[in-house]
Amino acid sequence: MISGRGSNLGALIADQANAPYKIVSVISNIEGAGGLARAAEAGIATQVIPHKGPLGTNKTREDFDAELDAALRAAGVEIVCLAGFMRILSDGFTRAWEGRLINIHPSLLPAYKGTHVHERVIEARESQSGASVHFVVPELDAGPVIAQARVPVHADDSPDTLAARVLEVEHKLYPAALRLLADGKVKLEKGLAVFG
Ligand code: GRF
Repeated sequence: MISGRGSNLGALIADQANAPYKIVSVISNIEGAGGLARAAEAGIATQVIPHKGPLGTNKTREDFDAELDAALRAAGVEIVCLAGFMRILSDGFTRAWEGRLINIHPSLLPAYKGTHVHERVIEARESQSGASVHFVVPELDAGPVIAQARVPVHADDSPDTLAARVLEVEHKLYPAALRLLADGKVKLEKGLAVFG
């Protein structure tokens, strides 16, 4: 599920040929998100599910999540990857997909949860940052980590230069972490990522 340019989706698409997973569906809450075109080019079914109702109507978080859930089930999805999906999911949704729902976050979790990560990392004069792939649990960016990659932070970094360096490792990390999950080599057990 995506909301934007979908470069991580692109990395998963590039990896899937000889991987233990196949991308069957790409869902975006934003019409025109760049990732939708990448998916379509690769021949993957796409769907836009707006998080807002048509003008003058409301869509609650639960309504939105129920639509996502129905679309995922209809597509026969077994694992959900959040790849720049910019909506917070309800507790009900995350519980329903527990152990089969993962996200990539551009920091060394548990440090720097939430948004504006690179700005905050630079502001705090950190010497290193990175990316994490984690199981999604109801608490934001708090689920057990499956894999992490580290990058240096340079003294003259801007949020954009740091984001680019982190993104480069994200593109290796996400396929590697998804392979582990798809192969059954990592599982969410009693709130922990268990390997083996
Ligand atoms: C990535 O930095 C990811 O870590 C974060 O959102 C960004 C998505 O980028 N969750 P892209 O859409 O995959 O290019």
